[in-house]
Amino acid sequence: MTNQQPLLEVKNVKKYFPIKSGLLKRTIGNVQAVENVSIDVYEGETLGVVGESGCGKSTFGRTVLGLEDLTDGSISFRGEEIGGLSERKLKKFKREMQMIFQDPYASLNPRQRIGDALEEAFIIHTDLSKKERVKRVKALLNEVGLKEEYYERYPHEFSGGQRQRIGIARAIALNPSFIVCDEAVSALDVSVQAQIIKLLKKLQQSHQLTYLFISHDLGVVRHVCDRVLVMYLGATAELATSDQLYKNPLHPYTKALLSAIPRPIPGRKKERIRLEGDLPNPSNYPKGCPFHTRCPLATEQCKQERPEWREVEDGHFVACHEV
Ligand SMILES: Nc1ncnc2c1ncn2[C@@H]1O[C@H](COP(=O)(O)OP(=O)(O)OP(=O)(O)O)[C@@H](O)[C@H]1O
Ligand code: SF4
Ligand SMILES: [Mg+2]
Repeated sequence: MTNQQPLLEVKNVKKYFPIKSGLLKRTIGNVQAVENVSIDVYEGETLGVVGESGCGKSTFGRTVLGLEDLTDGSISFRGEEIGGLSERKLKKFKREMQMIFQDPYASLNPRQRIGDALEEAFIIHTDLSKKERVKRVKALLNEVGLKEEYYERYPHEFSGGQRQRIGIARAIALNPSFIVCDEAVSALDVSVQAQIIKLLKKLQQSHQLTYLFISHDLGVVRHVCDRVLVMYLGATAELATSDQLYKNPLHPYTKALLSAIPRPIPGRKKERIRLEGDLPNPSNYPKGCPFHTRCPLATEQCKQERPEWREVEDGHFVACHEV
């Protein structure tokens, strides 16, 4: 995998949200939502992103898609830096990258037929005739396992799983190569979840898709992802193949996260590592290792120095002084 040219190269990316106060709305601080993330994403892979609520997963996904301005760093797609793209190339880039949300219902107009909603992408981005557009929408419905007749239906007439299929149809309409799935199956019942995962895998094959699969469900991530990135307070804590990460987690935070999965991994000791305290506020970012306020192994060095992001074995990266 490492000899391959990455589809996406994320280098030292930071995304800070300013905190404003007073009548003049002066910036009095920053929420450090994404804190110096560097990662390569390879064509055809499913890269999982895990971590507690508020650790910056969605902001990272949005930043990669160009939906948030970068505070610092760079992102390249197929070797070209996005920041330097011309208007025309940027438009093409935006078509190539799409997102699937947890709740597609929120982005659907309740008074618009599903067929019309799906047709919009073709109206905006292609010069297909009405007849051709309807044909394309029906083909899309088929592809995501929905009946062509559903073209006429309204959002409320669909179940949760069917709505997620519509969300997927919208995402693949313009033949993208990269999709951020942000908690895409988290709200679904287990059996429906399995069907949607199966559909995502099928589409990955037929459309040569690369996924960034954001989820707080470590069980699902293990099942779905080739590699997994663990984030803590906007920073990268560990990155490895799913097998490496679940069998041999190295970062104390990853160990704590994995120890909390209800179904233990065979061969791994069962005791649960409890993390003391809450996730620190990313607007008051800790000095040193971001995890030091909760880490059972923290030393004086951890309180002062940010650990480097190092490759400790082939493809296995970790940021910890004690590894
Ligand atoms: N538009 C915004 N303005 C200010 N702060 C924001 C904004 N979006 C996100 N944040 C903050 O950035 C941090 C990261 O949020 P983010 O939504 O990316 O986390 P997450 O890992 O996706 O959480 P969850 O698992 O709950 O979805 C949080 O502290 C959040 O409050
Ligand atoms: S660097 Fe220190 S505080 Fe951070 S995870 Fe490693 S041992 Fe814990
Ligand atoms: Mg989120």
